[in-house]
Amino acid sequence: MRSVTLRRRDAEETRAVLDDAVRVHGEVHAEPPFRGVDYYSDERFRDRLAIAVRQPGFGLLAAEDDGETAGYLYGFALASYTRWWSPLKDLLPAETTAETGARTVFIQEIMVRKRWRGRGIARTLHDEFLSTRGEERGLMCVEPGNEPARSAYLRWGWTPVATTTFAAAGPAFDCLLKPLRRVRV
Ligand SMILES: CC(C)(COP(=O)(O)OP(=O)(O)OC[C@H]1O[C@@H](n2cnc3c(N)ncnc32)[C@H](O)[C@@H]1OP(=O)(O)O)[C@@H](O)C(=O)NCCC(=O)NCCS
Repeated sequence: MRSVTLRRRDAEETRAVLDDAVRVHGEVHAEPPFRGVDYYSDERFRDRLAIAVRQPGFGLLAAEDDGETAGYLYGFALASYTRWWSPLKDLLPAETTAETGARTVFIQEIMVRKRWRGRGIARTLHDEFLSTRGEERGLMCVEPGNEPARSAYLRWGWTPVATTTFAAAGPAFDCLLKPLRRVRV
């Protein structure tokens, strides 16, 4: 099988391919357990991605096969004034939820289209994306029953710290952290 090509996109470049990103997301999330869940609809995802590209340190990494998008991942840095942790502030120690703008990179989405799965593409996207980041830790969320994704993240060094929802009547997510580099003391 041919190997895929990795392509990095900044915010402006991602805006230019927004429709393709939404289409791929729609295809991947047209199957269980995502199908029919409002949170995963094209409209809701387009809104999320449009907000994400405005965040500091936004980056998208796509895997392409002969010009076709096989999958992609994107993330951004949490700003010092982020409200990301607000629903979890009562559950977690202040040192966990404190942000500086340079502390945490949040991977918001990772997806690989069905015909390209099981070839290590998600792992490659994950490793390559994180290898270029300067933040101290990664943050990502996964539905508790989403396999094989969740088990893979645990093998890749992620630790669940809390469970929360991000939208009224939205799905519950496990929030996972991963240290990215040694912090100088
Ligand atoms: C989760 C997803 C991104 C994985 O993509 P992928 O390219 O097939 O993943 P990889 O080939 O890199 O495999 C990832 C790990 O899962 C394992 N895996 C992959 N498919 C598997 C399967 N069907 N059964 C068991 N394990 C499997 C691999 O062995 C690998 O583990 P390892 O790195 O510890 O060896 C893909 O299934 C997907 O897009 N799912 C729908 C969207 C989604 O759930 N995204 C994650 C949201 S948090």
